Amino acid sequence: MLYPFSLLCVVAQFFRLSYEMTVYNPAATGTWVCDVPEATLGNVGCVSALNAYNNVRLQPPPLPSPMPATSFALTLPNQGQHMSGLSIPQRGDFYGFSIEMSVVEQVIGKSASFIQVPFLNLLATLADRANNVRIRVGGDTQEMASLVDGLPHNAMVANVNSAINGSINMGQTPTLEYTSELLYLLANVSSLVNVKWFLGIPMNDTTHFRLQIAELGDAVLGENVLGYQVGNAPDLYTLPQNYTVQDYFHEFGVMLDGIHNDEQIKHTSMLVAPSLQGTWKAEDLWATGYLDAYSTYIGVIAMEHYPDQNCAAEFPDGGFGPIKDPQVVFPNYLTHASGQQIVQPYLNTAGIAQQLGKEFMMFETNTASCGGFPGVSDSFASALWAVDYGLQMAYSNFTGALLHVRGQNVSYNPFTPPPTNLSLFEKWTVGPVMYSTLFVAEALGTSNTSRVVDLRANDGNEFTPAYAIYENDALARIALVNFMNEQDGAGSYNVMIAVGGDTVGEADATPPQVQVKYLLAPSVSEKDQITWANQTFGGRFAADGRLSGTEVIQTITCDQAANSCVVNVPAPGAALVFLSSGAQASETSKATHTYSTTAVTNPVATETVDPTALAHSNGNSGKFPLAGTSKGGANGTKRTLDSLFANWLPVLLGIVLYHW
Ligand SMILES: *[C@@H]1O[C@H](CO)[C@@H](O)[C@H](O)[C@H]1NC(C)=O
Ligand SMILES: *[C@@H]1O[C@H](CO)[C@@H](O)[C@H](O)[C@H]1NC(C)=O
Ligand SMILES: *[C@@H]1O[C@H](CO)[C@@H](O)[C@H](O)[C@H]1NC(C)=O
Ligand SMILES: *[C@@H]1O[C@H](CO)[C@@H](O)[C@H](O)[C@H]1NC(C)=O
Ligand SMILES: *[C@@H]1O[C@H](CO)[C@@H](O)[C@H](O)[C@H]1NC(C)=O
Ligand SMILES: *[C@@H]1O[C@H](CO)[C@@H](O)[C@H](O)[C@H]1NC(C)=O
Ligand SMILES: *[C@@H]1O[C@H](CO)[C@@H](O)[C@H](O)[C@H]1NC(C)=O
Ligand SMILES: *[C@@H]1O[C@H](CO)[C@@H](O)[C@H](O)[C@H]1NC(C)=O
Ligand SMILES: *[C@@H]1O[C@H](CO)[C@@H](O)[C@H](O)[C@H]1NC(C)=O
Ligand SMILES: *[C@@H]1O[C@H](CO)[C@@H](O)[C@H](O)[C@H]1NC(C)=O
Repeated sequence: MLYPFSLLCVVAQFFRLSYEMTVYNPAATGTWVCDVPEATLGNVGCVSALNAYNNVRLQPPPLPSPMPATSFALTLPNQGQHMSGLSIPQRGDFYGFSIEMSVVEQVIGKSASFIQVPFLNLLATLADRANNVRIRVGGDTQEMASLVDGLPHNAMVANVNSAINGSINMGQTPTLEYTSELLYLLANVSSLVNVKWFLGIPMNDTTHFRLQIAELGDAVLGENVLGYQVGNAPDLYTLPQNYTVQDYFHEFGVMLDGIHNDEQIKHTSMLVAPSLQGTWKAEDLWATGYLDAYSTYIGVIAMEHYPDQNCAAEFPDGGFGPIKDPQVVFPNYLTHASGQQIVQPYLNTAGIAQQLGKEFMMFETNTASCGGFPGVSDSFASALWAVDYGLQMAYSNFTGALLHVRGQNVSYNPFTPPPTNLSLFEKWTVGPVMYSTLFVAEALGTSNTSRVVDLRANDGNEFTPAYAIYENDALARIALVNFMNEQDGAGSYNVMIAVGGDTVGEADATPPQVQVKYLLAPSVSEKDQITWANQTFGGRFAADGRLSGTEVIQTITCDQAANSCVVNVPAPGAALVFLSSGAQASETSKATHTYSTTAVTNPVATETVDPTALAHSNGNSGKFPLAGTSKGGANGTKRTLDSLFANWLPVLLGIVLYHW
């Protein structure tokens, strides 16, 4: 069955809370603002007024009334067998990223030989803590994507019929064209950093399959492909006609046949589905017999969800009502209730996935769809929110979650390239949720045995959540979050941790000392000064993807006679408590392998070289095998792409690469 597929119309008319819409905004076509301090931007001076760089700073919410207890005990068994409610074993790569297909050139690289160095550094920083990083390239735009032999100006990805004037082109179905270079780009990223990929097979047309992404994915990426997402948000296909769970059940079968009949596709049993955005209840789809019929071919049962939306801001004429005030929604992110509410509808399906032996992933998520809330999605509040939400998902038996990245006019990105066409590789903006990925990766570690439990700490108070992580069946780490913002010296809390002891039916087991790493910022509204164990990626426009500063790990001496360790959690902040040096050592023993844009062995690659010259050079220095320009070059698309990408100039990877 064919159905009209016009995402834009669908969104305008039938938007649901969780839906994420993609707009293709060329960088820097909006107005310009010049109120960013010169010192921050160096010679850039002014930046484009795109949401990724907004200057909205909100008022921190007042302290809760009544205040929660600011001193409370956590008495935990040392052995997992004495602790109830533990999750399934989790891996350190729990948090990964979902990168909208239309922004791959901006974020990952322009071609296989033109990779964004800060992107590699960010991934390397996470991979060192998580073993590997999982990235999905897809989103709405995967549904309209077609492989082409070549694009003008050697482009790798082109958006056609999209919003080229910075506004939505209602009524026209956007399409996206890409060349095989995209797959080589991903392969080359994986050859440098341990990244595994999810790709998306379009499902908008079940009579003319477009399976090339999987054919090429298997050929070029091989074992670095984790799976193919078949269709994105089918519960939104429906509209404006009645597309039902039965229709989807049937069409998914048609897609499966197509995939199985394609001899070039080897990974036919690693599909990702159904990727519901929340319009359908998962249970209604399961009732069709979907899982009985197809689960053999599904590797990851996936859902996609955002807790809120900011669509009235993104589509003023879209019928979304008045624009939401970020200040009003701010407190919604500063509570344990947010993560709990998000996972609630999925607990049943998490159990089903477990019974079937499938992964269960939140395949696309972030603070709010339609671009996030400026001042919320890019402030420290979102970092604390994502720590709690990530651990809540892990506790709830999700097996992973991917934070969405969607270009320069959204405020929720974990990382965003600079807004100008200058080759400012050291001037990326790293979002607060990027720090959350590091926190959660270290909380889970790399043993693949970590089981998580929400401790319902402090009588279940929503502002002071705590989780315990049992690794190899022993208490290894405790994560503590403080959502409160200090006011008149109040807001921080102390936890008295007791390990073992009579009350849990074990001998006292509090260690002589514990080590603590803090995720900190001056306030929940902070956008620049965020640190993890005193290290930072740098403020906005100041990141090259590497952590800088001295790592500071606090050692807290415990009172073994009293079977107690007192850990303070600042307001706001999050603490990761390592119960043994073993629990901590594995995370910091390795130095991060990063790519310096300045320290290089090859003389051509010094910071004094004109970046433009570098970008056009095709030298073969560095460790990266340069492969020249991308393939293709045929004329033939419907319009010129200059306007889309003229404002962005990445650094040519090969020349500036250096492993240390
Ligand atoms: C599916 O998407 C492709 C690429 O955008 C487009 O050419 C095709 O017409 C669409 N098919 C349907 C049935 O909407
Ligand atoms: C872009 O704006 C110009 C001038 O307002 C208009 O003529 C053109 O149709 C617009 N293009 C699109 C795709 O909306
Ligand atoms: C960025 O998004 C805002 C809505 O949040 C919109 O008003 C603005 O026009 C967009 N800017 C560009 C350059 O598309
Ligand atoms: C890197 O990309 C080039 C194409 O530009 C390709 O020839 C080469 O095989 C890729 N390297 C890897 C490791 O995939
Ligand atoms: C289809 O949608 C229309 C309008 O929403 C509704 O009246 C009708 O009952 C639906 N039909 C079916 C078969 O669900
Ligand atoms: C997660 O799975 C474990 C193991 O099956 C189970 O004991 C636990 O109750 C589940 N957690 C939740 C929140 O459902
Ligand atoms: C950057 O853009 C400006 C204005 O469009 C242009 O004059 C300049 O040449 C561009 N610089 C580079 C390095 O492309
Ligand atoms: C953990 O799982 C990952 C992915 O399955 C695997 O690559 C890694 O080797 C495992 N680590 C350990 C310590 O078993
Ligand atoms: C934290 O890092 C800063 C910046 O690198 C450094 O100046 C400071 O000494 C560090 N703090 C500690 C306690 O080492
Ligand atoms: C693209 O079009 C231009 C102008 O029509 C022509 O000069 C050029 O040869 C064409 N390039 C290719 C690769 O066909």
